[in-house]
Amino acid sequence: MDLNKKILQLKKEKKAVILAHNYQRPEIQDIADYTGDSIELSRKASQEKDAELIVFSAVDFMAESAAILNPAKKVLLPSLGARCPMAQMLTVDEILRAKKQHPKAPVVLYVNTLAVCKAEADVCCTSANAVEVVKSLDADTVLFGPDKNLAEYVSEKTGKKLIPIPGNGFCPTHLLFQPEDVKVLKMQHPNAAVMVHPECSNEMRKTADFIGSTSRMCKYAKESNARKFIVGTEEGLLHRLRKENPEKKFVIAYEGGVCPNMKLTTLDRLYVALRDEKYIVKVPEKTAAKARKALERMFEVKA
Ligand code: 13P
Ligand code: SF4
Repeated sequence: MDLNKKILQLKKEKKAVILAHNYQRPEIQDIADYTGDSIELSRKASQEKDAELIVFSAVDFMAESAAILNPAKKVLLPSLGARCPMAQMLTVDEILRAKKQHPKAPVVLYVNTLAVCKAEADVCCTSANAVEVVKSLDADTVLFGPDKNLAEYVSEKTGKKLIPIPGNGFCPTHLLFQPEDVKVLKMQHPNAAVMVHPECSNEMRKTADFIGSTSRMCKYAKESNARKFIVGTEEGLLHRLRKENPEKKFVIAYEGGVCPNMKLTTLDRLYVALRDEKYIVKVPEKTAAKARKALERMFEVKA
């Protein structure tokens, strides 16, 4: 029996649901029950009623959010080493230090953070709702971490002062995208629309016709009249974009735009994770209760 069939059989036997992030390998996206951006996957995980196992094909912080939001379910991360380096850039000490310096400023944390950090946040956000979350706060100065680029972008959009914690948190994958590459691609595809993730640099964001989360880019590509798109985000998204828009053309803004952690999950590992029910992601309830509040507050904001 081929691996796909084995996975589907195990999935049925064990009442499992497979959630995959838009950056996962094509074969993982294809076998998943649901593919989405980080807020969509969190929402899906929190609303899951029927499944007993949630297999989260993504990176650590996303699986942690699922475990926080739906503690009754067993959440599995198929690759133990799949950790988002940006989420590792912020520590609890750093948040506490910043809070001491700016006691009146609310703390907004990107979901790309560890659960212990979320427990110190007033509210979480993703790239799909960061602007609306910050707008919803009754404060002009906000502590925001860990992505400095997203902080800059939200500040531009809201006119509020965002103090980045740490001073220079960034995504090593989105850092690779450079405006020079877009300029060259624009010479080859002059009518192409440029879509960029807000984790990219300010210079890169300036090249964009559209800035948004991975799923927002999918929506934009579907609704836009453009026939060609230059895509400034992790290459995994191009699989979904091409699948959903077979008549349109998608070119990655930089060939090396790969998140190695997102690519750690393979079909083999997915199969083993389901078979052996590993690796279980659990967050101690004391931390989870506080982090849950910050995540739930995010869901209350209309975006
Ligand atoms: P999205 O929420 O846009 O899918 O982004 C998650 C992420 O990790 C981007 O690098
Ligand atoms: Fe983290 Fe960047 Fe990978 Fe997203 S693309 S998971 S922010 S390292």
